[in-house]
Amino acid sequence: MSILKIARMGHPVLTRIAEPVADPAAPQIRRLVADMVQTMIDANGAGLAAPQVHVPLRVLVFQAPQERSQGQLAEEEKFDHTAPLTVLINPEIEILGSEMEGGWEGCLSIPGLRGFVERPAHIRYRGLDGTGREIARTAKGFHARVVQHECDHLDGILYPQRMSDLKSLIFETESRHWTPREAM
Ligand code: NI
Repeated sequence: MSILKIARMGHPVLTRIAEPVADPAAPQIRRLVADMVQTMIDANGAGLAAPQVHVPLRVLVFQAPQERSQGQLAEEEKFDHTAPLTVLINPEIEILGSEMEGGWEGCLSIPGLRGFVERPAHIRYRGLDGTGREIARTAKGFHARVVQHECDHLDGILYPQRMSDLKSLIFETESRHWTPREAM
């Protein structure tokens, strides 16, 4: 396994549509996934999409641990709001309902910055895991946000393109001056 170089905003690989994976169980995909997991953990990220490591394929890894959620979750909420370390290949997202939710996002391809992004609050997603088995889940909160953010990478979209007000694109080091309410 190795830690891969992360492409930063401005590299063309981050603006193109990534290709579907033909065989999720192929050895080179397994190697890619293992390297992506190691790279994400090393960079302390919540998610990583293959285009971010210069590979234009529809592969992503993410995790939505409970400590990333705002406030305490009730027991019945944990199922939708959190996710273990997950590999998702050829993902598809379905938006459930019209509710939108705002939250601060960062991206390993845009180091040092944070942006306030509104996204659908409730989604269903499906795709294949690293062994080719089908995954189908519903997601809310940070879990829904990270999946949408990573899937956007597969379509060449970075989070600033989802922002309605670039006033809330800020340096992380200035984030102590902000509260979510001011950003809305
Ligand atoms: Ni990102």
